[in-house]
Amino acid sequence: MRPTTPPFASETFTLDEESIPFVPGQTVLEAALAAGRYIPHLCWHPEMGNHGSCRLCVVEANGRIQASCALPAQPGLQVVSKSETLTRVRRTLLEMLFAEGNHFCPGCEKSGDCLLQALAYAHGMTASHFDPFYPQRRIDASHPDLWLDPNRCILCGLCVRASLAEGKEALVIGGRGIASRLLATSASGRLGDTALAATDRAARICPVGALNFKAAGFTTPIGKRRFDHRPPEAMSDKERYT
Ligand code: SF4
Ligand code: FES
Repeated sequence: MRPTTPPFASETFTLDEESIPFVPGQTVLEAALAAGRYIPHLCWHPEMGNHGSCRLCVVEANGRIQASCALPAQPGLQVVSKSETLTRVRRTLLEMLFAEGNHFCPGCEKSGDCLLQALAYAHGMTASHFDPFYPQRRIDASHPDLWLDPNRCILCGLCVRASLAEGKEALVIGGRGIASRLLATSASGRLGDTALAATDRAARICPVGALNFKAAGFTTPIGKRRFDHRPPEAMSDKERYT
């Protein structure tokens, strides 16, 4: 799934006035990343593909604002990924994500290592203009090694997709719209009663501080965390994703 520009890619589209090669089947986001051009994104992951939920990957393609992770690359497509309008749209989306959950960065062990926080900084978000929801969903600490704070979950579906790929389906997103929730699939509804193991990819893929390890927290000092000095844009794939 990790995007690379295949050597036989012969077709091209234009991204910010640069020619980007692609092969049929690649999306604009995949082809751009493969060519070393970064477009902000949150729920797309090189191992898991797209989910289409965060919309942060929006670009202007042939004059329409669209999610680049779901937009098939096509010859001659004119794509803009950097503009004041797009920055404003992405910042608004980030503000909404912050307002929907309890993202109190100073008290979160993921601070400095959180992709949501890093993208908010990168887009100049200093506050949310939306009234906070202050959700009060119950924290699930029933697992011996992990704890889940659903109030910080951005419903990116990464843990869900990773667990599905591992054949466990320990987690699922249930409900609709504003009532959507991340749920453990056990009969009891408790994380500890699912087959999820601390060694699973699903346990380690959360880009925010929702799914955490019990045994190790706050081990990396502030100032030495992943995004403390560089935005996601300046990082390699290996550094950017959990
Ligand atoms: S727990 Fe983390 S990885 Fe799973 S859906 Fe929520 S934010 Fe995404
Ligand atoms: S990365 Fe495209 S919708 Fe989230």
